[in-house]
Amino acid sequence: MNHDIVEKNIGIMMVLILVAISFGTLVELTPLIFGDEVQEPIAGLKPLPALQLEGRDIYIREGCNNCHSQMIRPLRAETERYGHYSVAGELVYNHPHLWGSKRTGPDLARVGQRYSDDWHRAHLFNPRDVVPESNMPAYPWLFENEINAEVTGKKLAALRKVGVPYTDEDIAGAEAAVEGKKEIEAVVAYLQNLGLLLKSRR
Ligand code: HEC
Repeated sequence: MNHDIVEKNIGIMMVLILVAISFGTLVELTPLIFGDEVQEPIAGLKPLPALQLEGRDIYIREGCNNCHSQMIRPLRAETERYGHYSVAGELVYNHPHLWGSKRTGPDLARVGQRYSDDWHRAHLFNPRDVVPESNMPAYPWLFENEINAEVTGKKLAALRKVGVPYTDEDIAGAEAAVEGKKEIEAVVAYLQNLGLLLKSRR
């Protein structure tokens, strides 16, 4: 019986497993790579302005994405809590994406405009001041550190290389847009604009 041969020969077994997995992967991925739906930005999507982009970088530096996902699944429990499920077209300019898989805190994909700027500032300075039971770390240094404006233009230029449609004016104006600003302003600007293009629970 042929099946016996495969089961007793680890070499043939490995090759056949590889063929099976590769075929499955191709069937899953090929339509996504060539389909417009996941490549096309949704209506109204723009690259992040310089200040928000710096906020996103600080978000990554501080590891916010280790506790907060930015990916609302298409399940009722999720959409009722957070708003419209995440779609590929709103994330096409995200390099790297911050979907995450661990939620120590809530998903933040549509947190934009849910709270006031003052709430975010108080919360980031010391989460326990506004949410007494919170175990989120405090980030007081964001209120002291200034953004390093020298490199902002370069960040926009690098993102343009991978397909984010920044204009020459965006890049030229990037340094001035963040010059002298504190890190907290960038993080709050970033949070307040997260996920606004689709309906939130707000
Ligand atoms: C150790 C895990 C952890 C880290 C790291 C963390 N958070 Fe949180 N975050 C939480 C928890 C838990 C909550 C829920 C309690 C609260 O509101 O403080 C929360 C709540 C929030 C909320 C309110 C969300 C809502 O819908 O109510 C925002 C906004 C937020 N975090 C932003 C951030 C930002 C920005 C960073 C990085 C600078 C960060 N978090 C880092 C755990 C974390």
